[in-house]
Amino acid sequence: MSPLSVDCAHTRDRSAYLALIPELERQGFLRIPAGGALRQAAEHVFAEASGFFARPAADKRRYAWPARVEGYREMGPEYAQVPERPDLTESFSVWNHNRARPELGDWAAGCPLHGALRRASDLLEEVVRDLFAAMAEYFQPGAPEIRFHRATHVQLNFYEPARHARDLLQDSHEDGHLVTLVSTNAPGLEIEVDGTFIPAGVEQDQILVMPGSLLSLMTGYRLKPLYHRVVNTHRADPRSSMLYFVNPEIAQSLAPWIENESNRGVDIIARANLAPTKFGLPTLAETLAGDAGARPAMPRLAGAAQ
Ligand SMILES: [Fe+2]
Repeated sequence: MSPLSVDCAHTRDRSAYLALIPELERQGFLRIPAGGALRQAAEHVFAEASGFFARPAADKRRYAWPARVEGYREMGPEYAQVPERPDLTESFSVWNHNRARPELGDWAAGCPLHGALRRASDLLEEVVRDLFAAMAEYFQPGAPEIRFHRATHVQLNFYEPARHARDLLQDSHEDGHLVTLVSTNAPGLEIEVDGTFIPAGVEQDQILVMPGSLLSLMTGYRLKPLYHRVVNTHRADPRSSMLYFVNPEIAQSLAPWIENESNRGVDIIARANLAPTKFGLPTLAETLAGDAGARPAMPRLAGAAQ
């Protein structure tokens, strides 16, 4: 089956995803079509983001819950390599774990971006379930499904390139998740292919699938983490990027699909827990427990250089 026959929002045909895994292994990433409902959901998110991030800072901060890393986050705490070079983006995060929180009920009326991201997150979850099922079938048929819903979040990054002099709005890095799904409405993202950064080339009707370091651990590094960065186009128009960050739920034992010398003895859940600290963020356990705002960011992990 042709990769182009995969329509993320409409098909549950996992055989189409299975046919893509060799391509993912060979080239290190996938661009898959985002048809129908998913494309509409992404466009809705981008439209709501334009309105939200144009608001005064005090208004945006009303929709921030730092203890749970939910909602708005201003530029500063999050970085790709070193704290001295923060990601030059504002962001807005929406965690599945927080869906039942009554405190967030008020956000629906005043912050439609929140609901738009939840809707997109639902659709992206379907894509990831099929992708993971295909990966398990490809790498270790019969392996149990990875549970990820409660530890996963979607994040909108909002860039204003022309406001910054730096050439890179986000330095090169690999994500510390299982996988990241990217939708964007403007150029700027670059990915490393064969040692060279090239434009990600993800169109508005596509999703980019980027393996993270945890997926490399799951596959004995047959899937490599995809290094990426955001270059400054110096365009006056803002750039929005919707990132679906997939983490394993931490209350499970997660065995790799392929074990070899690269991952033998590695506790993948422990890695997932600490991974956010490499980028200035609280641990996954702290975020899920609602303890994320109570302490300063942890020091970087030893040996975390990229
Ligand atoms: Fe990233």
